[in-house]
Amino acid sequence: MTEWTRIGRDEDVVDGEPFAAALDDGTAVALYRFEGAVYAIGDICPHEDVRLSEGFLDGGTIECPLHQSCFEIRTGKVIEGGPAYEDVPSFDVRNEDGALFVRAKR
Ligand code: FES
Repeated sequence: MTEWTRIGRDEDVVDGEPFAAALDDGTAVALYRFEGAVYAIGDICPHEDVRLSEGFLDGGTIECPLHQSCFEIRTGKVIEGGPAYEDVPSFDVRNEDGALFVRAKR
């Protein structure tokens, strides 16, 4: 995906709560509002096929609901300690008149 995809409204993404969405091609993405900015990362755990957004959000990290691997919501980077060892992708986020768009980072 190289183009911007409209994924929701700014007010859909609230502090402390993941917003699960999907791109047109079915790619699962979750958006997070953290410290005044909105971030988007891939929402499928690289360890097994489960949505990270159903896990536990703790500040800037999301914990997988199945085996507790943790990922940084700003970057998608995995934090050592769980069984997952691969990062999830992160996406650029753009706000255009209250509509949120995402695209793969270049
Ligand atoms: S499924 Fe996420 S850590 Fe195992």
